[in-house]
Amino acid sequence: MKQQIKQEIQDLVKGEVLFSEPLKKYTSFKIGGPAEVLVIPKDTDDLQSLISYLSRYTIPYQILGNGTNLLISDQGLSKVVIKMTDLFNWIKFEGNKIRAGAGTKLPVIAKKAAERGLSGLEFAAGLPASVGGAVIMNAGAGNLGSIGDLITQVKVISPTGKLKQYQRNELDFSYRQSSLQEKEEIVLEVELELRSADKESVHNKIQELLLKRKQTQPLAMPNAGSVFKNPPGDSAGRLIDQAGGKGLRVGDAQVSTKHANFIVNLGTASAQDVLDLICKVKRLVDDRCGVKLETEIVYLD
Ligand code: EPU
Repeated sequence: MKQQIKQEIQDLVKGEVLFSEPLKKYTSFKIGGPAEVLVIPKDTDDLQSLISYLSRYTIPYQILGNGTNLLISDQGLSKVVIKMTDLFNWIKFEGNKIRAGAGTKLPVIAKKAAERGLSGLEFAAGLPASVGGAVIMNAGAGNLGSIGDLITQVKVISPTGKLKQYQRNELDFSYRQSSLQEKEEIVLEVELELRSADKESVHNKIQELLLKRKQTQPLAMPNAGSVFKNPPGDSAGRLIDQAGGKGLRVGDAQVSTKHANFIVNLGTASAQDVLDLICKVKRLVDDRCGVKLETEIVYLD
C-alpha cells in the first residue's frame, strides 16, 4: 500500500490507526501475521467516511469482529483491517425485542436477556463471538438453535457508506450461512426477538450449557471453536474421534484430546500448521468414515 494512502487514512480517521500491527493479538487462536493498516473507528460517522474513502479508491479492507472463528495467514493481511468490537458495543431492550451493536459479545447479550426473563438465546451464552460476526456466520450450537432463528432485522453500511436495513426474510439463513457472506456490507446493528419465560429457568439453562461446555471443550487453550461444520445428521467431533484423530499434530497445532472438533494452539502454531492439520483430518475422516468434512472457521489471507 502506498505511503500516501496510509497518510490519508491517518488524516481521515478519528479513531486509532496502527501500522504493521500483529493480528495474532486480535484472534482467539493467537495466530496471524501483521495487518498493513489496522483501524479502530471511533463511531459510525468515522466508519462511514473510512468505507467511502476505501471504496472510492478500491482499497481492499477486512472487517474484524471478536476474532473467534478466524485463521489469519502467517503473512498477515495487506489490506485495511477494521476492528469493530470496541465500537458498537451496546444493548437496548424493548419488550421481547433486543437491539444490539455489531461489536457486542453474544454471551453478554444472552446474560442480559436472561436477567429480563427472555428465552431463546441460551445456546449463545458460551459462544464468544461478536453478534455481528455471529449473524454473518449464522452461528449456533449443535441442535440448540442458531442466531438466524432469532433475527428480525439487521442494519448494515454499504460499500459506498450508505446505511441500509434488511428484514429477516432477505437474509437467507441456513446452517452456518447467510446472504451477508456474499455482500461487501458491514453489519452495524441487529434486532432479535426472544420469548418471555421464567427468569430462573433461563438462568439455569445457561448454567447447564456453560458447565457442559467447560467439561467437553478445551477452553483454556487458544482455539477458534468448532473447526468443521457438523455434517447433516452427524457430528464432526464424533467422526474425527472415531477416525482416531484426537491428538493428531502438525507443529504446535493439535487436534484437541478433549473435543476432536477443536484444534488448539500449543504455543507457537503457525497458520500453515493449522491448514496442514485441517487437511490431515479431512483425509483421515474421508478414508475411515467416507465423510467429506467442510471447515467452519474462516481463513483470511
Ligand atoms: N463427540 C465425540 N468425541 C469428541 C467430541 C464430541 O464423540 O471428541 C460426540 C459427543 O459425545 C456428542 C456429539 O459428538 O455425542 C456432539 O458433540 P457436542 O455436544 O460437543 O456438540 P458439537 O456438535 O460438537 C456444537 C457446536 C459448538 C457448541 C456445542 C454446544 C457446531 C459445529 N458446534 O458442537 O459450537 O459449543 O454444540 O453443545 O455446531 C462453535 O461453533 O465454535 C462451537 C464451539
